[in-house]
Amino acid sequence: MKKVLVAYATRTGNTEKMAEYIAEGVRFTGNQADLKKIGAIQSEKDLEGYDGYIFGCPTYHRDMTAGMKTFLFLAEKASLLGKMGGAFGSYTHSGEAGGMVYDTMLYVFKMDMVDLGALNLKEAMLDTPDGNKACQEYGKAVGKKFNV
Ligand SMILES: Cc1cc2nc3c(=O)[nH]c(=O)nc-3n(C[C@H](O)[C@H](O)[C@H](O)COP(=O)(O)O)c2cc1C
Repeated sequence: MKKVLVAYATRTGNTEKMAEYIAEGVRFTGNQADLKKIGAIQSEKDLEGYDGYIFGCPTYHRDMTAGMKTFLFLAEKASLLGKMGGAFGSYTHSGEAGGMVYDTMLYVFKMDMVDLGALNLKEAMLDTPDGNKACQEYGKAVGKKFNV
């Protein structure tokens, strides 16, 4: 069983809901998923011990949050090279943050990212059967990467 960390920023809880369903999807594949808000991660040591990482951030002002930028500098110091990865975020109309996080994980950290790209879910899709399924399927896709 592999261990995946789902770490996310959230202001009003929407990206947190996504994180919970994504973690569930990872667990459906027989792997472990831990959930953490980025604020609970104090140093790069807190990122040790995982085989995969799924980072989430909502879009505000067509950007990632300031906290997510700080977190990614912290993650840069962890050894994420070649680790499995995915990225996601909630949004209403433009949704840049998920892709920005995904690109940092792919091009800067050189992680083995899920080939679906980032999961960007419109706020209006939260708590709908399709929205929940999209999150679960994304978690499953990351989890299944361990089984090939
Ligand atoms: C002040 C403000 C600015 C926002 N800017 C954007 C934006 O540029 N693009 C976008 O797609 N959504 C934008 N949103 C919508 C949020 O991304 C959306 O509400 C999201 O679900 C919040 O996620 P959270 O609950 O995890 O913080 C903005 C929301 C607020 C309140």
